[in-house]
Amino acid sequence: MTRESRVFALAVAFAGLSTSAATAQSTLDAPANLAGAWVARPGVVQFNLIHRFDVSPAPVRKLNNTPTLLVALGALPWASVGFVYGSNSGLVAAFPNEWEFFGRLAPLREAAGAPLDATLQGGYNVAARSADFALTVARRIGRLRLVGTGALLESAFDSASTRGVVGAGATFRVTPGLALAADVTSLTDRRASEDLTWSAAFQLGVPYSPHSLSLHVTNVGTRTLQGLARGSGVTRVGFEYTIPITLRRYAQGRARAAAGPVERVAPDSGRVVRIDIAQLAFARPRIEVSAGTTVEWVNRDPLPHTVTADDGSYDSGSLQPAAVWRHAFDEPGTYTYHCTPHPFMRGTIVVR
Ligand code: CO
Repeated sequence: MTRESRVFALAVAFAGLSTSAATAQSTLDAPANLAGAWVARPGVVQFNLIHRFDVSPAPVRKLNNTPTLLVALGALPWASVGFVYGSNSGLVAAFPNEWEFFGRLAPLREAAGAPLDATLQGGYNVAARSADFALTVARRIGRLRLVGTGALLESAFDSASTRGVVGAGATFRVTPGLALAADVTSLTDRRASEDLTWSAAFQLGVPYSPHSLSLHVTNVGTRTLQGLARGSGVTRVGFEYTIPITLRRYAQGRARAAAGPVERVAPDSGRVVRIDIAQLAFARPRIEVSAGTTVEWVNRDPLPHTVTADDGSYDSGSLQPAAVWRHAFDEPGTYTYHCTPHPFMRGTIVVR
């Protein structure tokens, strides 16, 4: 296939997938390198700052800093656009400053009842002059979250040869606000001179905020799809700080019902429907259930939230991280609610 037809075929596959959403994830749910299994929520700018350091050999012992900045805007509930900017990149000799522009779709989302999260990324790496694609899937099993990825680099490292990447990783929540994480990736046709990439991390939710922190060791420099395909040959110590900026927070007097279509939800055998609270949002903001359904809210953020009826008829009080709160909806009607400390967090339950 020609380069153009390859890109076109991938773009068609990319666009043909159905839609739902995956919320932006903190480092508590993402290993340090395979961190692409999310899209930002609509109206949220995700701002992730990664710095990695290494020391050159003796006698110079120069401290090198390889920063990667990721900015993504949630455009739709299931799509984000953004860029990654990496400086001091070792990818292509002539391009120490590396840009990757990307779009992401989340056709499957665990928080909306899918068996796993699936996220597709398509983008262009300016330094490598390459269209790069990745499919990342993730599944939560108790405290464990498993992540797998497959990527295709149309012109790997500006070589004009198309190469594949596979990777796997996991996070394990020791406590609601602390996780251990690791991942490993390899080029599918890795040569003897090319290293695997790996990372090992402590991941922390920053208390009373939607931010998260990763402290890690890895052999990856810039965290682009190309950057995490091949080990740098240097062990680096680094951190990542994730900052979701909720633009609605700055809109004045906009107390309104949750936006978006109503999702009709069937309860489980115990007549319970679960709504995750994550990244300063109710993951299923508008749902319709049958009378007699119990709704269960689970706080997956590292900060407290509330589930408070707009008419005052029910109130969870402060829900600490990992807390669960249930309320039974027996009478048909439309019930709107919000979070007291974050009034822009809104939800609606339609009871039939
Ligand atoms: Co809140």
